[in-house]
Amino acid sequence: MDLPLSPPFALRGRLLTPLDDGGTTYQPDGLLVVDGSGQIAFAGPAGARTGAASEAIDLRPWILLPGMVDLHAHLPQLPNAGLGAGLDLLTWLERYIFPLERDFDAATAERLAPAAWRAFASAGTTTAMVYGAVYEASLDATFRAAEAHGIRAIVGKVMMDRGTYDPTIDPKVILDQSLTESAALIDRWHGADDGRLRYAVTPRFAITCTADLLRESAALAAATGAYWQTHVSEDRGEIAEVARLFPDSIDYVDVYDRAGGLGERTVLAHAVHLSDRELGRLVETGTRVAHCPVSNLFLASGMMPLGRYLDAGLGLGLGSDVAGGPDLSIFTVMRTGFYVQNARRVAGVEEGRILAPLDWLRLGSLGGAQALGLGEVIGSLEAGKDADVIAVDPAFTAPVPGVEDDESADIASRMIFRSHPDMVRAAWVRGRRLEGPGSRG
Ligand code: GUN
Ligand code: ZN
Repeated sequence: MDLPLSPPFALRGRLLTPLDDGGTTYQPDGLLVVDGSGQIAFAGPAGARTGAASEAIDLRPWILLPGMVDLHAHLPQLPNAGLGAGLDLLTWLERYIFPLERDFDAATAERLAPAAWRAFASAGTTTAMVYGAVYEASLDATFRAAEAHGIRAIVGKVMMDRGTYDPTIDPKVILDQSLTESAALIDRWHGADDGRLRYAVTPRFAITCTADLLRESAALAAATGAYWQTHVSEDRGEIAEVARLFPDSIDYVDVYDRAGGLGERTVLAHAVHLSDRELGRLVETGTRVAHCPVSNLFLASGMMPLGRYLDAGLGLGLGSDVAGGPDLSIFTVMRTGFYVQNARRVAGVEEGRILAPLDWLRLGSLGGAQALGLGEVIGSLEAGKDADVIAVDPAFTAPVPGVEDDESADIASRMIFRSHPDMVRAAWVRGRRLEGPGSRG
């Protein structure tokens, strides 16, 4: 199969996408026309543009979808994916994660980051918001790899001035250095390649950050227009420790609120155990949440009440949280998210609305894009948006050869509940093909 490497091009396929105005469209014989600048010039039925359709590369029966958005992952943790089951969050961090991240220097990033970006693309992710290591040079290498690969990436240097890797260095020195280095990285990378690469100021979480670091980091994000990302309310042991460290705060969300960290450019990961007050504050401030159900079950953190949060109007997308989640695929995140809602129903604790497969598909693409404030640029296959596209081969998700689906809900259901590591055959960002998909055969 001759797949286009760069724009302009036109593809014919089964086109399935959420729409900005709500709902989903499915075209069994769809056409996607990408112009020379990598934007979608047309997305719709092939019959509406017979001339272009006759010259398009015909990928049918492959399914063309918007690329998935992973709102939360840790790139240096990828080598640990699948390890450490059975531990609670804080023990798992100490035993598996901190030693790994401590060694993720520039040389390690140069070696691993290109493969990591290819792995994201192989999973069908075209936009990833990730945490890097704590070292400036390691972040430069991670950004350079994303720049070369072509993925859309939001990356940040992890900041911590408590429980640091080198106890011989005065935490105040670490704080100052961390801010200076984050500012330098913002200068170099935030908005690079016409906004394809962006920066997220990244205090790890309240346990490893002083109130000073949280406040100063939020001020840096506000002053530069960078994102601000951290973890919140993931695990009961963590929540108790935050309460001990920040006795003046009302609750966990209040710790970030007092630091000036809440707002529309902030993405908080997990948010499993929010009180009504905390949820209300996130909604009021437009703060976004990355829902990471695979990780939340892997680490036995809890089952987030998704329906309740959505009914309250919370802006939310999906995150793999690799390596808290063992898999980069946002499709497997959807599947587990669905199972979590079912488990909550069985337990009689689900209060809000239940999502169907097409709702999950929307959350993993357009929902994530909107959470990042990029809903007008990516997240769906609609004219005027950037051509961030993936192609899925349904042969990989069919239960037996020859079984085919022609309803949009069934196609989505099959990709979610029978997702396969090789089902994504190609991925493009702005019409430029990404390495990764299809490389395993
Ligand atoms: N909280 C603070 N750091 C981490 C991390 O690396 N992974 C997860 N899942 N939670 C965290
Ligand atoms: Zn995380």
